[in-house]
Amino acid sequence: MLEKIQETAAFLKAKMQTHPETAIILGTGLGSLVHEITDKYEISYKDIPNFPLSTVEGHSGKLIFGKLGGKDILAMQGRFHFYEGYSMQQVTFPVRVMRELGIKTLFVSNAAGGMNPDFEIGDLMIITDHINLFPEHPLRGKNIDYGPRFPDMSEAYSKELIAKALEIAKERGIKVQQGVYVGTQGPTFETPAEYKMFHILGGDAVGMSTVPEVIVANHCGIKVFGVSVITDLGVEGKIVEVSHEEVQKAADAAQPRMTTIMRELINRA
Ligand code: HPA
Repeated sequence: MLEKIQETAAFLKAKMQTHPETAIILGTGLGSLVHEITDKYEISYKDIPNFPLSTVEGHSGKLIFGKLGGKDILAMQGRFHFYEGYSMQQVTFPVRVMRELGIKTLFVSNAAGGMNPDFEIGDLMIITDHINLFPEHPLRGKNIDYGPRFPDMSEAYSKELIAKALEIAKERGIKVQQGVYVGTQGPTFETPAEYKMFHILGGDAVGMSTVPEVIVANHCGIKVFGVSVITDLGVEGKIVEVSHEEVQKAADAAQPRMTTIMRELINRA
């Protein structure tokens, strides 16, 4: 496993013209951030040794290097979800490669169902913490020496970055919520009883990504900042049928606000 990570990192290092310490996983709600990256150069996942292959035809994914918010960055366009059938090792492989490349801070986004009754569709929720409900742990197996066997998770999402993001949101007049993200395997959305249970457990929003990558980033000593776009509501009395299209539509509407916060934060981080 470590050999594969190092082989991939060596391949990328030989091609890299910059040395970013900031990485972004362009999840739902951040796709358009790509247009703001300047001095770009790209490497397709399919050309990267050991990188998982995309399951979706025509969406092979790529790493994009360039500048954003005045900083050298590395962006992942296309992420790997557990529900697609990837192993946890595959889902989190790129994060471990990031560690080898010298990444110090990781920015992530996702779409999520809101369970906090104060939330509305289209809200941005700064992730303050998570609850891991994936059926397999990404650190299961022989420990890789990037971090301890039993890693601390008392500050999985950097408090410093959260404080800066709140400052930026205030300055720019962008409404933000804060809350706990529950990570589940999907691919089903939740039943009303499941939304209720996750809320009782302490969750404010639920989604099908992010938690594996964040756990591995923390194990690697990479600081994390994450935002969810609330695309539907799992609140008693407000639950309606959810579709992927509606999730996408709500995420697209939130995109400019999400992008502003991320760009500014990268600039100030
Ligand atoms: N549940 C799980 N994942 C999601 C949801 C949801 O309601 N909305 C967007 N991603």
